[in-house]
Amino acid sequence: MNEVVSQEAFVKIGIIGAGHIGGNVARQAVRAGHEVVVSFSRDPETLRAFAAELGGQAVAGTPREAVTGAELTVLSVPWSIVDIALEQAGSLDGTLMVDTTNHFGPGPGPVAGQTSAAFNAARMPGARYTKSFNTLTAGFQAQVVDRPVEDRVVQWICGDDPSAKELLAAFIDSLGYLPIDLGGLADCAVMESPRRPGSVYGEEYRRADAEAVVAAVRAGQPIPPTPSYS
Ligand SMILES: NC(=O)c1ccc[n+]([C@@H]2O[C@H](COP(=O)([O-])OP(=O)(O)OC[C@H]3O[C@@H](n4cnc5c(N)ncnc54)[C@H](OP(=O)(O)O)[C@@H]3O)[C@@H](O)[C@H]2O)c1
Repeated sequence: MNEVVSQEAFVKIGIIGAGHIGGNVARQAVRAGHEVVVSFSRDPETLRAFAAELGGQAVAGTPREAVTGAELTVLSVPWSIVDIALEQAGSLDGTLMVDTTNHFGPGPGPVAGQTSAAFNAARMPGARYTKSFNTLTAGFQAQVVDRPVEDRVVQWICGDDPSAKELLAAFIDSLGYLPIDLGGLADCAVMESPRRPGSVYGEEYRRADAEAVVAAVRAGQPIPPTPSYS
């Protein structure tokens, strides 16, 4: 999983919330040749205009249409409206969901000791839940996409479904980032907000340093100090 995986182009990608993060993923997905359905806006006209701007195989739709038949669906809305977005998406049975959210602002949240990923996975029954794209700002993600392979920036992945994580890794690779599997839902705290020592949240990682983090997490040890790249 930590190796670069083969690209799978021209698959359908659903986006629920095409703002800073979801919009960036949508843009990179179109660039990589995927079909994209963007959804969930307070202004359907804005959504249609964004799809037109994306060009390629991008269309605007409802959250239900984004999920239906998608290889994977990216959920990228403010924490406080996750439940509203999920309600509009309907049944997620068998759907590979990629959660980009961070626990900021109002709304129900994890209990002590529970990761945000575990909390959100529980409100997506039947979904093949994964979490990614949440540790770096949207501006940075847009800026560093598609670096030369040796300098690729890590997009961390967590989740309890190995085959879902493999598909997500292939998608992340197709966009131009380096997918690194941090572990299961219980390990996900290391990639969750807030930015703090002992976490990868808010920090750039490349392969060697990311692999050292994974080794530490697997061993139940503190992760190495945050790397710095010149
Ligand atoms: N921004 C970052 O740098 C960053 C980085 C990592 C993770 N994240 C996480 O990723 C998630 C998405 O963040 P984002 O910055 O991409 O958010 P955003 O730019 O505000 O995008 C939210 C999307 O949801 C749509 N939406 C529909 N109904 C809405 C409502 N009632 N209120 C607000 N938005 C509504 C918005 O569409 P309309 O505006 O057209 O209605 C917009 O496309 C969040 O959970 C955030 O914590 C963000």
